Amino acid sequence: MSATSKSIHGEWSSRFAFVLAATGSAVGLGNIWKFPYITGENGGGAFVLVYLLCVVLVGLPIMIAEIMLGRRGRQSPVNTMELLAEQAEADPNWHYLGWLGLIAGALILSYYSVIAGWAGSYALKAVTGSFIDADAENIKLLFDGFINNPLQQVFWHSVFMLATMSVVARGVQSGLEKSVKFLMPCLFVLLMLLVAYAMVSGAYQQGLDFLFTPDFSKITGQAVLTAMGHAFFTLSLGMGAVMVYGSYLPRPVSIAKTAVLIAGTDTVVALLAGIAIFPIVFANNLEPGSGPGLIFQTLPIAFGNMTGGYLFGVLFFVMLVFAALTSSISLIEPAVAWLVENKGMTRYQACIWSGFTVWFLGLGTAFSFNIGSQVKLFDRTIFQLFDYLSANLMLPIGGFAIAVFAGWIMKTKDSEDELAMPHAIVYQVWKWVVSYISPAAVFLVFLHAVGVI
Ligand code: PFF
Repeated sequence: MSATSKSIHGEWSSRFAFVLAATGSAVGLGNIWKFPYITGENGGGAFVLVYLLCVVLVGLPIMIAEIMLGRRGRQSPVNTMELLAEQAEADPNWHYLGWLGLIAGALILSYYSVIAGWAGSYALKAVTGSFIDADAENIKLLFDGFINNPLQQVFWHSVFMLATMSVVARGVQSGLEKSVKFLMPCLFVLLMLLVAYAMVSGAYQQGLDFLFTPDFSKITGQAVLTAMGHAFFTLSLGMGAVMVYGSYLPRPVSIAKTAVLIAGTDTVVALLAGIAIFPIVFANNLEPGSGPGLIFQTLPIAFGNMTGGYLFGVLFFVMLVFAALTSSISLIEPAVAWLVENKGMTRYQACIWSGFTVWFLGLGTAFSFNIGSQVKLFDRTIFQLFDYLSANLMLPIGGFAIAVFAGWIMKTKDSEDELAMPHAIVYQVWKWVVSYISPAAVFLVFLHAVGVI
């Protein structure tokens, strides 16, 4: 396939559509659910700083590389890597990078869908007025009752998987594109509103201090690994999601500018979520390190007690479901594209196969919080294990390989041509960072995490 031909799966209608879709993929539960709770678990400011450094030094250059590889290959990540390895006269085993991504995507989506199900259930709770006048204690009881119920977990997980697969089945333009156009701006406005609430009703200064005053004594090797893993997770990097979206990107669009926009928006949304949540945590004497339930135990207190909280609560959780949906579709798209290309399936059939597999895997997470909470491997519940394996190991390893491929394996003239940067110096800086800094950073973080340095 030549470098300029189109993907058989279709194309985005414009640069704006791609930006929305890729931002939709990046902004999701990772920003609003995961970032605050892992920041809480890892002591705040110093963790945030490491995460921001990883976004700039590792995430952004790798995002440019991943989009570039996708647009050059124009196929599912497995086939793209095979084609690009052939063009670079490199080892065909590079296509295993695509496989690593498919597996990581399935693992992530399996638990992502369960948590998105929580957001769905909370949207309904908001509609039925469950948060009205509630205090921290009622909200905690509500949350514990919900996650302890295995049937409810499976029900909401199933609803979310069905929703995801029905969007993906519709294809690039009518399925993926339409669903993101309105959601992102609305989510942004609602977050600003929550920040305003936190400013007046929460322990605002304490929240800010927690987020932005680094205390390096709280940072361990594992915390640094978590921060880096999260940079990959939140930017949807290292598993082919951005690569497959890049393969639907029309040729004249500037990849570098687009990547800066996506990474910038994603970071701002995560910080806003943190600024909204921690003041509420401290004002209600909640524990910042209380884990995956953090936003579900804090934000309902705000909604239950603020003017207009009923409406805002409903809107917020509905938005959260949509933000999750625009991410989940990108988690499964690489697998669907591969099934269509290699197994001769229609998109619809590919969705059924991949959707069912992921749904089944997700049962492990759905039961991790109740009947299966004692089932542990390497001292972790299934949810914790899937999260650790995918976010902390597979995504950084995938990202490392993408950086090495773009920096060392692909021919310079090919990457230069595909990126078409307006100034040669910008290309050179990118090439240098992606060849040396990003892979070295990932490598050092791994060494630090296992205690070698
Ligand atoms: N970036 C998404 C989030 O922050 O919620 C999650 C995600 C989507 C991770 C797609 C990885 C991915 F490929």
